Amino acid sequence: MSTITLNGSARQADNGQRLIDVINGAGIELPQVCYHPQLGPIQTCDTCMVEVDGKLVRACGIVVSDAMKVTTNSPAASAAQRQAFDRVLENHMLYCTVCDNNNGNCTVHNTTKMLAVEHQKIPFKSKPFEVDNSNPFYRYDPDQCLLCGRCVEACQNVEVNETLSINWEDEHPRVLWDGGKAINESSCVSCGHCVTVCPCNALMEKSMLGHAGFFTSIPKKALKGMIEVVKDIEPEAGYGAILKLSEAESAMRQSRVRRTKTVCTYCGVGCSFDVWTKDRHILKIAPEHGATNGISTCIKGKFGWDFVNSPDRLTTPLIREGDKFRQASWDEALALIARRLSEIKAAHGPDAIGLISSSKCTNEESYLMQKLARAVVGTNNIDNCSRYCQAPATTGLFRTVGYGGDSGSIRDIENADLVLIVGSNTAESHPVLATRVKSAHKLRGQKLIVADLREHEMARRADLFLRPRPGTDLVWLSAISRYILDQGLAHAAFLDQWVNGLDEYRKSLEPFTLEAAEQATGLSAETLKKVAHMIVEAKGVCILWAMGITQHTMGSDSSTAISNLLLITGNYMRTGTGAYPLRGHNNVQGAGDQGAAPGALPGYQSVDDPEVRRRFEAAWGVKLPTNKGLDNHEMVDAIQQGKLKAMYLFGEEMSLVDSNANYVQDAFGKLEFFVVQDIFFSHTCGFADVVLPAAPSLEKEGTFTSTERRIQRLYQVFEPLDGSRPDWKIVQDVANHLGANWNFKHPSEIMAEMASLTPLYAGVSYERLEGYKTLQWPVAADGADQPLLYTKRFNFPDGKARLFPLSWTQPTEQPDAEFDLHLNNGRLLEHFHEGNLTYRVEGIRQKTPDTWVEVSPELAKERGIVSGTRVHLTSRHGQVRVRALVTDRVHDKQLYMPMNSTESPVNRLTSSNSDPITHTPAYKEAAVRLEVLPEVDESPLPRINSRFGHPTPQQGVLVERKWGRSDYSIPGNGLVQIQIHRKQE
Ligand code: SF4
Ligand code: SF4
Ligand code: SF4
Ligand code: FES
Repeated sequence: MSTITLNGSARQADNGQRLIDVINGAGIELPQVCYHPQLGPIQTCDTCMVEVDGKLVRACGIVVSDAMKVTTNSPAASAAQRQAFDRVLENHMLYCTVCDNNNGNCTVHNTTKMLAVEHQKIPFKSKPFEVDNSNPFYRYDPDQCLLCGRCVEACQNVEVNETLSINWEDEHPRVLWDGGKAINESSCVSCGHCVTVCPCNALMEKSMLGHAGFFTSIPKKALKGMIEVVKDIEPEAGYGAILKLSEAESAMRQSRVRRTKTVCTYCGVGCSFDVWTKDRHILKIAPEHGATNGISTCIKGKFGWDFVNSPDRLTTPLIREGDKFRQASWDEALALIARRLSEIKAAHGPDAIGLISSSKCTNEESYLMQKLARAVVGTNNIDNCSRYCQAPATTGLFRTVGYGGDSGSIRDIENADLVLIVGSNTAESHPVLATRVKSAHKLRGQKLIVADLREHEMARRADLFLRPRPGTDLVWLSAISRYILDQGLAHAAFLDQWVNGLDEYRKSLEPFTLEAAEQATGLSAETLKKVAHMIVEAKGVCILWAMGITQHTMGSDSSTAISNLLLITGNYMRTGTGAYPLRGHNNVQGAGDQGAAPGALPGYQSVDDPEVRRRFEAAWGVKLPTNKGLDNHEMVDAIQQGKLKAMYLFGEEMSLVDSNANYVQDAFGKLEFFVVQDIFFSHTCGFADVVLPAAPSLEKEGTFTSTERRIQRLYQVFEPLDGSRPDWKIVQDVANHLGANWNFKHPSEIMAEMASLTPLYAGVSYERLEGYKTLQWPVAADGADQPLLYTKRFNFPDGKARLFPLSWTQPTEQPDAEFDLHLNNGRLLEHFHEGNLTYRVEGIRQKTPDTWVEVSPELAKERGIVSGTRVHLTSRHGQVRVRALVTDRVHDKQLYMPMNSTESPVNRLTSSNSDPITHTPAYKEAAVRLEVLPEVDESPLPRINSRFGHPTPQQGVLVERKWGRSDYSIPGNGLVQIQIHRKQE
């Protein structure tokens, strides 16, 4: 701690704390236009000038040291602050009353008031540029731009998309996209970081424009007139009077603009933010306080919400009549469901019914769904889509370290010395998590190794990019482990203290020599040695993986190999280390946690365990089934075999996202009774007998659990659309029609019941999750949680981890003479999964209207394919037609299809082969043949897609270039101590 004197009073501060934070913490008013705590010091605006030991310095650019004497309000400091702000106002026209940014949080407005500015000393100077309206989601108005550089800093160093810069040397500096392109023709990925941090109205969400204020929707011409009036009266009335008026208007806005906290509905990163709404109009997404994301979002979380108000929303139950559906009342639909499920249960037993919960829906909804299955229907036939992606990773971790979750937080990944990403297109599938890795790599010298079939963004950024043959990850991971052990490079002390099973594991590694690995994987022994040395030399290693590992027949074993490697190198039990299987859907972790799985009650408590069953039976007042149920993969087979007769599924596009879609759809056609609950009439609804209209996340309360095991509350933003209901209410309705007597009034009561029965969630309550508060499981009864999962012990009785011996078999579906190309598939930044939500976002449709198959330049040349050529792909299981996109992201005879299509779904081509332990389909093991069709269309990727852009990487806003301008001088007359403190220092 340091003791400083602040405006005459002694004050304690942490050594190394930014002075501006100390001043703000003391509640002292200080102008600060460019400073944002999450961006760090940018030092472009000079408005935070204070006197330190008699010299003028920028408070944001200096850290405290002992005995510092700081004065924020001396005549010299005040004059410098005022002069600096006058220069800011030269770039900005104050027309607050008719500005959509006048919502109480405008930095320019608030600083004008704080400094009691009455008149603009330096007249406003218009910049000779048009407003850029080209991007579908936001616009840039150069005339209002303060040149504070916050947006540049956010884009360069937080998002690390590196699109923005400021041309400081130009006569009229402005913000540039890719060095001077229109926004829509640049590399901008529409993540919205820049818009979120802009302190004024220069960058604004288009959804705000004309909607936020009482007077801002008036026609442009009239608006211009009003702005002129404001400017005309300013010389006489002064800003004081004008601001009073605008503040009255801003206060009126508070009464009709609601700000509600929610958690993103898309991926498992778990971003949270406020949703600003006016009636049912979404004004904007405002991220700031989220424990995971702070100011960060990706295009989906920031701008991907049009689907909520889509006219396609289901608002009434539907009942099949022949080939058609007719509208029905809730009573009729629920009565029919109860009658048919009861009849089928009476005729064939409870195990003739299967239930599928949704990893898009809340924890409370998954809890109720599995309770419905077990306590009401009487079957353990319950599952969720974590089977399709995450179950192998969970198995790998259960085998080795005892919990099936990420071993730390995203913050722990940031702290790693080396990050190894295997089989994960992180920048597109987990965009905000990827920003933290990109930033640590760019600013703090974190090392990055990427192993993947495709050279995606993370691969391009990597220090080392490995391209093993498909399905051989277990081999090279195990070969590295063997090499490390053979060379005596393993972490002996860690192994001694914390790990069992070394001898047996070592024996299992015998076949994994570097030579054998070289043969199997195509990676050279030298490369493998290099990776091994990078791992053992790093102070901390985190390994991130996803569907590129798990969606293989060896998915569980490859996940285990990752954890084995971490164990022998001592990379667990501290920050900057650990295993991070990246969860796909927003609540796929939670759906598993809640027992939406055939073998486990909530909290991974086995259905085989009589003691566990007794506890649930006592609470639920029923006898529970004892046999493990069918998982979703087995359910499809059981339908085909005539054993499973009825299914109830919610929030899941199973007919397209399950592998071997033709086989799955054929099975659905054979069901005697099928209930599907969704917010849209999905492809799967087409097979249903009854369709129930549900409500999306913005229309309900509940909790999601993210990839970090982070449990977060979402609050209701809108009422459910008339006729639709939140899923938890529907599941309760179905249960009660089947004779249960549930009476949950609010999801908090469901959580309370679940927590009382589930040690993993014991201390979770809505009170402890109020607002932006979060908990990371396991949560003890007293509310203590565990951001870092293993600190004192691993989750086995003796507290020690277990090395798990492995062997390797060839992947299935290898290319051969008939099916000569390997087909890979996965996610895409702009769309989520099959695209049922994101295709209903107009801006996303414009940017990314369709799917495609990626073809390597060499294959394209060989087959005469250009981007836009229509091709016919045939596998052993089905066929699709799709347009080609020629790109060097893929190589040789490997193709890649994004999974976002309902017309040409990749799963018509994939097989029913699966990981034998978890039954996770081997989506990534597919072979196809390709026929070139005569039609050549436009490229499936329009030129306005960010992938065509050319980023301009630089280390932030580069304020030194502003300071180097001949017309720049430091405000005030004192000496300035220039100090750059970037985040990495
Ligand atoms: S990528 Fe685009 S939206 Fe995101 S911060 Fe950069 S310029 Fe802004
Ligand atoms: S557009 Fe960028 S530089 Fe201009 S005011 Fe906004 S954040 Fe600052
Ligand atoms: S990274 Fe994931 S959670 Fe965050 S905004 Fe994007 S989709 Fe939503
Ligand atoms: S707040 Fe802008 S220079 Fe310090």
